[in-house]
Amino acid sequence: MKLGFIGTGKITSSVVTGLCRSKIFYKKILLSPRNRSIAKKLKRKFKKISIAKNNQDLINSCNWVFLAVTPTVGEKIIKHLRFRSSQTIISFISTMTLPQLKKAIKVKAKIVRAIPLPPISLKKGPVPIFPPNKKVKNFFNKLGTTVEITNEKLSKNFWSTSGMMAPFYELLSTMSNWLVKRGIKRDKAQKYITSLFVALSEDAVVNSNKDLKNLVRESQTPRGLNEQGVKELRKAGFYRSTEKTLNSILKRLNKV
Ligand SMILES: NC(=O)c1ccc[n+]([C@@H]2O[C@H](COP(=O)([O-])OP(=O)(O)OC[C@H]3O[C@@H](n4cnc5c(N)ncnc54)[C@H](OP(=O)(O)O)[C@@H]3O)[C@@H](O)[C@H]2O)c1
Repeated sequence: MKLGFIGTGKITSSVVTGLCRSKIFYKKILLSPRNRSIAKKLKRKFKKISIAKNNQDLINSCNWVFLAVTPTVGEKIIKHLRFRSSQTIISFISTMTLPQLKKAIKVKAKIVRAIPLPPISLKKGPVPIFPPNKKVKNFFNKLGTTVEITNEKLSKNFWSTSGMMAPFYELLSTMSNWLVKRGIKRDKAQKYITSLFVALSEDAVVNSNKDLKNLVRESQTPRGLNEQGVKELRKAGFYRSTEKTLNSILKRLNKV
């Protein structure tokens, strides 16, 4: 199987890195020449990677084509490309809906939308896909955890929560900086904060068959530090504004 990526930016870089570290069998990975420096870096780092002459050449020689350009670029270029009905096209483009993709692609190929996130480079993280597709599901299950979605409107909710990655890192950065300001060396501070959150996340995964509220409750001792932490943040509107931000990201997604 030959896999081609149109748009060689952040997300292609992460997916290709995960792919090259996985057990997925493929004959070749073709990258579009933009961005050339990222494409060259990936080609140098991993085997079986080539850089295509242009987008159409890449499509002509691949079975699966991943669309990893920004929405503005996607709307401009996809309609001018010629796909084959035997191809599987997987779009990472945040705001192009399935009907819009079908219209631009024209042929009756299999089209699947997917939302991989940068930790896919470590073969970790959820990958919501819409519509369900067995082969695509199996593919992403080797790079993380596929979540099949049966309704495109529902997939927008997942897109909204994926907008919380940078806020999450900002929280880690704020906490690390706070330690640094109190005289702790940056590497120690960051090691402490990142290993704390990795442990908490792993614990949350293990307990994710139960309501996460249980973890909130169990991690508080009466009149303890965590009780103070969560109470003060609730009072300050920290969680309400998290929900408000999710709503406003969703609102933006619903406009397209
Ligand atoms: N980053 C994420 O975590 C993430 C997660 C899921 C989905 N997505 C979606 O994936 C898409 C790409 O995101 P990204 O973060 O990877 O963006 P990005 O880093 O900006 O990458 C986009 C790439 O498209 C290239 N490009 C521009 N015009 C092109 C053309 N005509 N033909 C081929 N390639 C062209 C750009 O090259 P130049 O640098 O040369 O302009 C750039 O390398 C977006 O729709 C985004 O919503 C992103």
